[in-house]
Parts: sequence; C-alpha cells; structure tokens
Amino acid sequence: MEIKKVGVLGCGLMGSGIAQTAATAGFETIVREVSGELCEKGLGGIEKSLGKFAEKGTITADQQKEIRARLTSTTSLDDLADCDIIIEAIIENLETKRETYAQLDKICKPETIFASNTSSISITEMMTATSSERQQRFIGLHFFNPVPLMKLVEVVRTVLTDEALYEQAIEFGKQLGKVTVRATDRSGFIVNRLLVPYMLDAIRALEEGVGNIVDIDNAMKLGLNYPMGPFTLGDFVGLDTTYYIAEIMFNEYREKRFAPPPLLKRMVLAGLYGRKSGRGFYDYTKDARNPTPMNLV
Ligand code: 3HC
Repeated sequence: MEIKKVGVLGCGLMGSGIAQTAATAGFETIVREVSGELCEKGLGGIEKSLGKFAEKGTITADQQKEIRARLTSTTSLDDLADCDIIIEAIIENLETKRETYAQLDKICKPETIFASNTSSISITEMMTATSSERQQRFIGLHFFNPVPLMKLVEVVRTVLTDEALYEQAIEFGKQLGKVTVRATDRSGFIVNRLLVPYMLDAIRALEEGVGNIVDIDNAMKLGLNYPMGPFTLGDFVGLDTTYYIAEIMFNEYREKRFAPPPLLKRMVLAGLYGRKSGRGFYDYTKDARNPTPMNLV
C-alpha cells in the first residue's frame, strides 16, 4: 500500500511541525485537535513557520500556497478514517493514548499504519490497545523539536512489527526529508536514552556547585560545538516534559542516572517549565532573546 494521506493527531508544537513536514513533502495531510480553537492555533503556527521559509527563499510563494492547500484540520476522529498513516502527537499520557488508539482502530481502514511520536512511553503498551492485526502495523516515529528544522526521525519497531511495514516506515521517513535511524522499543529509544542522563547530570553538577548555569551552558555549547547548553536546551524542551520523560525512564530501567534530581522536581512543582512558562533555568519574561539566569541554588 502506498502512503498518500497522512493523519496527524494533535496540533501542538510537535503535531503542527509533523503536519507541516508531511504537507511540505507533498502528502495530503489532515490534523485533528480537540477544539476548533486549538486547530486554528496549530495551523497559525504552521503558517508562521512556512512564512519564515518563504522569506528566506527556502520555498517559493507558490510552494507556500500549495503546502497550505494540502493541509486541513478537524475535531473529529472519524475524519481520519481513510488516512494511510496516523502519526500521533497528543498529550504524553498512556491512558489517553490507549483510549484514542482503541477508538481509531475501529474507525480507520485495516491497512492504516499507526505511529506514535512519544518520546518515552512504551510503543508496545499503546499497541496492545488495538486489534492483533493492527499491532503488526504499529510503530514509533519520534521527531525532534523544531520538527521542520531537525533532520532526524527515530523509527521504532516492537517485537510484533511486520518487517515489510517497518521498511516502508523507514522509506516514509526519508520521503519526509528526514534522516532515519532504526531503534527498538526501549524507553527513550536512542536519543533520549543518551540525552536525558546528560541533562540530569548537568542539574546535579549545578546543585553540587561545579559551575553556575551560564558557565555550565557555555562549557557544553562552546567546548563541544553543541547548538545549546544543557539548561538552555532543558528550557527549550520544557522542564515538565524533561521531568516526565526522566520519571518514565527511571521506572523502566531503575537506574539512578535516569532519576530526576530534587531541583528539577521543585522547579516543575513551582511552575518553572522553561520558555513556555516564561521562566526555567533562565528568565525570559523581560527579554526572551537575552534571558537572565535564575537564582536557584
Ligand atoms: N520554522 C521555520 N524556521 C524556524 C523555526 C521554525 N519552526 N524555528 C526557528 N527557525 C529559524 C529562525 O527563524 C532562524 O532563521 P534566521 O537564521 O533566518 O534568523 C533560524 O531558524 C535559526 O533560529 P534562531 O536564530 O532562533 O536560533 P538558532 O540559530 O539557535 O537555531 C535551533 C534554533 C534550530 C532550535 C537551534 O538552536 C538548535 O538546533 N537547537 C537544538 C535543538 C534540539 O536539540 N532539539 C531537540 C530537542 S530534544 C527533542 O525534541 C526530543 C524530545 O523527545 C524531548
């Protein structure tokens, strides 16, 4: 079966980026959000991002219009019935995901591929909410933020994934213009398995007084040519998200390198989520382009 129509569940930061990427690659794309307002917000973000690419000349004005014309939105799961692949990027909550997959399993045609963009929840645990036929057509497609700019997608297989379907998913990732890597269904896959302990260790180093926020960030950014230091990256990803991923990984592996440090937990409890809430390791409220470090330890 050829993939022609892509359904994206969720039009938040990741879902909108995935929908934009699919439409840019030439796929007819439909996004589903729970309210019309959220659909509008997500599509607005896509238009803004496409505008940036058009301004830079990465795409022409005509291409911008064509990409936009390939994108539609809905609040009804029923409208995803004829999609060839569904990429789910909704809230990272296992029960919500399982309920949604169970409903979609009944709505979608038998050939539809189900793919989750989860960063750490077990693909196998979501997959078991669907019929045994669908379970062979269930994979992970893990994208990176900001999706339109980041080149990678992790393609994740479970112990039941059909071999030919997995190869097709790898091809699909390439058609989206991404570099694909193969990973098995272990919490965090490849990137977060290595990234999360690194970010948590940076927080421990801060708590131990090895260096301050700016110095640790600069050390990792300039010493290794990383685009961002660990605290800027944490604020960018969201500290609530980072905490949540760490908790899931700690529960899976029971290794202390995945355990969220006390400071991270307290920052999340206090609502310091990073850029999205205005404050995290840095305060973005006065000047988001030149944030000032917070006094945390
Ligand atoms: N659409 C289109 N253009 C965009 C954009 C978007 N969504 N976001 C940024 N841009 C453009 C900007 O307009 C800017 O254009 P310009 O050069 O013409 O001004 C250009 O990209 C660069 O942006 P900025 O000047 O704002 O900042 P940077 O040069 O730092 O680049 C970045 C931004 C690409 C985000 C870069 O900082 C980066 O690569 N950071 C690391 C990102 C990263 O590690 N992501 C992975 C997070 S982990 C994850 O997602 C997994 C999850 O499971 C946790």
